[in-house]
Amino acid sequence: VNRADCLDLDRQDPLAPIREQFLLPEDIIFMGGNSLGALSSPVVAGVDRLVREEWGKGLLRSWNEAGWIDAPHRIGNKIGQLLGALPGEIVVADSTSVDLYKLLISALRHQQPDRQVILTEAANFPTDLYVAQGIVDLLGPPTELKMVPRTEVLSYLDDRTAVVMLTHVDYGSGDVFDMADVTRRVHAGGALVLWDLSHSAGAMPVNLHGCDVDLAVGCGYKYLNGGPGAPAYLYVAQPLQDAFLSPIWGWMGHADPFAFRGEYQPHQGIGRFLAGTPPMIALAGLEASIDLWLTVGQEAVWRKSRELSELMIELVDQRCRGYGVTIASPRDPDRRGSHLALRHPAAYAIKRALTDRGVIGDFRPPDVMRFSLTPLYLRYVDVWDTVDCLVDILTGRNYLAAEYAVRETVT
Ligand SMILES: Cc1ncc(COP(=O)(O)O)c(C=O)c1O
Repeated sequence: VNRADCLDLDRQDPLAPIREQFLLPEDIIFMGGNSLGALSSPVVAGVDRLVREEWGKGLLRSWNEAGWIDAPHRIGNKIGQLLGALPGEIVVADSTSVDLYKLLISALRHQQPDRQVILTEAANFPTDLYVAQGIVDLLGPPTELKMVPRTEVLSYLDDRTAVVMLTHVDYGSGDVFDMADVTRRVHAGGALVLWDLSHSAGAMPVNLHGCDVDLAVGCGYKYLNGGPGAPAYLYVAQPLQDAFLSPIWGWMGHADPFAFRGEYQPHQGIGRFLAGTPPMIALAGLEASIDLWLTVGQEAVWRKSRELSELMIELVDQRCRGYGVTIASPRDPDRRGSHLALRHPAAYAIKRALTDRGVIGDFRPPDVMRFSLTPLYLRYVDVWDTVDCLVDILTGRNYLAAEYAVRETVT
């Protein structure tokens, strides 16, 4: 493969027109979409319309007339189309961390009295672990958290397990759990399953219903491109909804918020997982981005994602040999999400040097550089140029500059 081949692939790419919807700076290659998705023109237009028209002119009327009050359900249903959920199974609310809290507590209550163990993998994303630790701290025994090695999770499943909480695509390596198989085995063990889809939605095919998933959460600001801190979403399978209760009884989760009754009565269905007023400016950005997502064929996205990551692996294998870079993601494309993790002892400094050269990825300790292969706005030639830049930095050893040794707050 050479650069001209990559340019050819771009010319034949059926998703190339979608890239034109994204407002990427000319001199930047953006490989960080697994951390913060890129800005698109529909998002700018959506936020602008909400602020100037709906808020500016519609004022209070917009809660009804612009459909603000239904936004968490409406956007949830749109995300549901991407994730194989039925209408009424996903709602958009709060952050992934808060949604994890709501669903874990609900699951523990549902599984009382015998099953009170949350089972997870020790290397799960820290917020998932922290939320579970906080719940155990709050509730005390017999509530318990078991954090076990990734490859052994299911061997710890027993008749005290309430819920198995896993991240579908690992935030570090990009390794993927087999959602259908794990869910089946968790159910056979009598427990519920909760999937964190933060690195899956918009990155690879997900079929919540097809896999009979009980509970799920995920970020709106990564591959879904909803904007920095965009609201998260939560999923509760329909048959469970009436038996599940959120631990946060807010007015937006009430059966009739505008009756202003003093007694809490949960909303029918998924709406009971709402708590406070929907953040409309943020939701406008997220909705516009999801609408863009719904115009593209998911299979084409997934095909390109795999082609981009296979290309990057091939180029790294060929061109970075002898410089201490190893591929930390699975080589089997069926076991990999949409980002590639490269390991190097000086990963942080190399990431900084890449950023200074206009290639933006990120770093996760102790030694991983992450590059996301986002098919909506990344070209094949961007992968070529990224590896080219990486080779240049490795050979020139510019990453040894003293300034790159100092860690910034966000890595
Ligand atoms: C797997 C996973 N879960 C949760 C989060 C964070 O979620 P939030 O910031 O919405 O609480 C992240 C952020 O990177 C993540 O990778």
